[in-house]
Amino acid sequence: MYTSLALALSLSSCLLAGAQAQTTVAAWNQCGGLQYTGSTICVSGSGCVKLNDYYSQCQPGAATVTSAVSSSTTVVPSVSSSTITTSAASTTSPGLHTLAKAKGLVYFGSATDNGELTDAPYKAILSDNSEFGQLTPGNSQKWDATEGTRGTFTFTRGDEIVALAKANGQLVRGHTLVWHSQLPSWVSSGGFDNATLISIMENHVTQVATHYKGQIYAWDVLNEIFNEDGTFRESVFYTTIGEAYVAIALRAARAADPDAKLYINDYNVDGTGAKSTAMYNLVAKLIAQGVPIDGIGIQAHLISGSVPSTLQANWEQFASLGVDVALTEVDIRITLPTTDAKLAQQATDYKNVVAACVAIPKCIGITIWDYTDKYSWIPSVFSTQGAALPWDENLVKKPAYAAIAEALA
Ligand code: G3I
Repeated sequence: MYTSLALALSLSSCLLAGAQAQTTVAAWNQCGGLQYTGSTICVSGSGCVKLNDYYSQCQPGAATVTSAVSSSTTVVPSVSSSTITTSAASTTSPGLHTLAKAKGLVYFGSATDNGELTDAPYKAILSDNSEFGQLTPGNSQKWDATEGTRGTFTFTRGDEIVALAKANGQLVRGHTLVWHSQLPSWVSSGGFDNATLISIMENHVTQVATHYKGQIYAWDVLNEIFNEDGTFRESVFYTTIGEAYVAIALRAARAADPDAKLYINDYNVDGTGAKSTAMYNLVAKLIAQGVPIDGIGIQAHLISGSVPSTLQANWEQFASLGVDVALTEVDIRITLPTTDAKLAQQATDYKNVVAACVAIPKCIGITIWDYTDKYSWIPSVFSTQGAALPWDENLVKKPAYAAIAEALA
């Protein structure tokens, strides 16, 4: 994977860049932006086009927009020999979202979180809408973030991410309206009766979805409502309201933002099994009852080397209901430390996951749960695992990136 030849080529090109006039940048590669220090001259036939303050790109047939080009600062991620992983496929990639769109998907996207947005090199890549055409706030639209105190709504942090997506021309997946986790104790331990909890839940869904009305491509209205055996999770919503809470939440969301697609989202509904069957049966029932439901969200928090072989068959089953399916939180974790062989396995896993979605017309989008290992949730929960995302902790593309690009090509 990391051959000495690749290292030698990389080092020699660095030396040449320093010794000579600027080399030309190949089509679709970066040619400018804050923090960018490379060549700003595009290959003949291409022009350097500003996509955002941090990223300009050589686009065939375009005229160079010189005001977009800046190389005044030098904050670049350090790259060691062990992280020279960007393959030929990735250096020539037009970007994962661009590829996904060409393949008929609506978007390729990433989760993000507010604290990460002060990291300018991170934000630059996140804002590159050739890579990401969609953002999901990883935490800032959850119940604890939006209604920590009953009846007092706070949208500042969610607004920051929605505004960033808007500025970048990216869609937003709203995440999430009703979830047992990150639920303030005033809700989970409030001891409310059925009617009161319905009204609290309806009000929450209505207030949040109304605040973001018109700005959300799809809402994860309900998150993680099933146990592994396919029974309903005994959240406060289920134990107080019963199964009816699902339809009540969906109807409230539709009323508040009629244009947002409404999803039920869960993990371990990747391959076939009891939980996937429960999801299928519930969505079939909701459709039969006329309850608004547009999509099934497949989180896809996966383990490298253990990705189910039934992904495509399972997602085709979901899609046969007539709803969209989306991969909403993809990451594929590795037992640390990484090796070339493990990264190669992970690349194969990513390729298979993306290819399974691409094969299904109703699989409309893929979101990775942040794009860099620097901000992955995995190590904080699985102490021996990590390296789950296509960019490493230095914001350098891993073999998984090229594998995704290949599956989308
Ligand atoms: O904001 C506080 C900060 O003030 C405090 O100093 C710090 C100390 O631990 O905690 C911060 O809160 C953390 C929060 O993320 C924001 O970073 C919480 O402890 C931490 O538990 C929380 O983790 C989030 C997790 O959901 C909680 O369940 C992850 O970031 C988020 O990526 C993760 O996302 C979930 C999806 O919503 C649903 N599917 C599974 C996925 C992964 O767990």
